[in-house]
Amino acid sequence: MNNEESHNESYKVSPDRQWTEAERRLIWKKPASHKVSEEERRISREIKRNWNRGEMKIATILLEGDAGSGKTQLAKALSANLGLPYTKVTCFADMDKSDVIGSILPVIAPEGLEKLGAVEQMALKALYESDGFRSATEILTETLAVTREEAALRMKQLLKLASEQTETEKVEYRFYPSEIVRAYRNGYLLEIQEPTVIRDAAVLMALNSALEPDGSINLPTEIVHRHPDFVAVITTNRSYTGTRPLNEALRDRVQHSEKMDLPTREVMIERALAKTGYQDQAALGVLADAIITLDGAARAHGIKGVAGMRSYLFWADAVADGASPRESLYYKVIYKITTDSEEIRLLEEALQASGLAVNLEELEAEVKKNETLARLRSGAGDK
Ligand SMILES: Nc1ncnc2c1ncn2[C@@H]1O[C@H](COP(=O)(O)OP(=O)(O)OP(=O)(O)O)[C@@H](O)[C@H]1O
Ligand SMILES: [Mg+2]
Repeated sequence: MNNEESHNESYKVSPDRQWTEAERRLIWKKPASHKVSEEERRISREIKRNWNRGEMKIATILLEGDAGSGKTQLAKALSANLGLPYTKVTCFADMDKSDVIGSILPVIAPEGLEKLGAVEQMALKALYESDGFRSATEILTETLAVTREEAALRMKQLLKLASEQTETEKVEYRFYPSEIVRAYRNGYLLEIQEPTVIRDAAVLMALNSALEPDGSINLPTEIVHRHPDFVAVITTNRSYTGTRPLNEALRDRVQHSEKMDLPTREVMIERALAKTGYQDQAALGVLADAIITLDGAARAHGIKGVAGMRSYLFWADAVADGASPRESLYYKVIYKITTDSEEIRLLEEALQASGLAVNLEELEAEVKKNETLARLRSGAGDK
């Protein structure tokens, strides 16, 4: 066992728990490219320290900040450190209560099933055959190859259809818990992505009361109590004009919160090295500086798009592969921020003013030179 692992071992919150094989698979395993951050160490340490301290327990966490700053990966790293299965729910505007708690579905008899369309049959069969371990949305997402939003909508249509079909007969009902309920009842780590978009106040209230330390969720069939191992990690982009801020009551439930920005230059380079394998630190530095400058300029001019970590990683990867830094700057970074000519001009000006345009020029020349050298070398090898 290396240092890192023995270090992680000490954060396990429930080391004696027995997991099923399926649950064990959900516990995140850090890939080699994962870099432990300050935030990760801090949160892991605090959760562990307070785990058995009653009201001081830290089990609802907020990670708020820039797109691509590493919120999701941090939630997954906590799954690995705390030794809890990782699950997530991606919130959407039209979420209703059944998306929070789950839904009851009448079981249609085989003769009735045959009268339905092929897609409906396939979906219902998959649901009826499920072992209750997975949520309905998850099953439909997979069976029908659709997004979670579409799956949630489908589930509602199926409900209507099944109720119509079974109106006259006496039927059996089955309850399909939501992803939230599953994590809540079994004590997993649940990432709640972007609850700011939820429009229905009743849904927010249900979520909010569930997140109380000794909270519970009222299902039609039973009351589910919060498992002592349940950890909620809310992740959200910082509100800029146009998006709603995180609901105050929800915010108040949080026992630890981190402001996640574009990582420091050093961390950016470190992550890009690990992810892309591009060894040229000087080049990675120039690209990082450009991203940082563009990020600042976009904010300063109220340009809505972001120049974040994702753009940086894909840009670095393209340049590592021999793409022109100056050209790929546009399709990997700038056009992701904006395609408005006036805004593009403002971003170009920022690069000029900081002297980075010149650095990119130099990098361009170097990449070209290396390309030529490589070509000559391989040409020489051919003979
Ligand atoms: N600690 C880390 N070590 C290495 N790479 C990381 C780390 N954290 C994040 N990354 C990489 O940075 C990218 C963005 O990370 P992530 O998806 O976690 O961001 P996010 O904040 O959740 O973004 P969004 O707001 O869009 O949901 C991913 O490619 C991820 O692998
Ligand atoms: Mg995310």
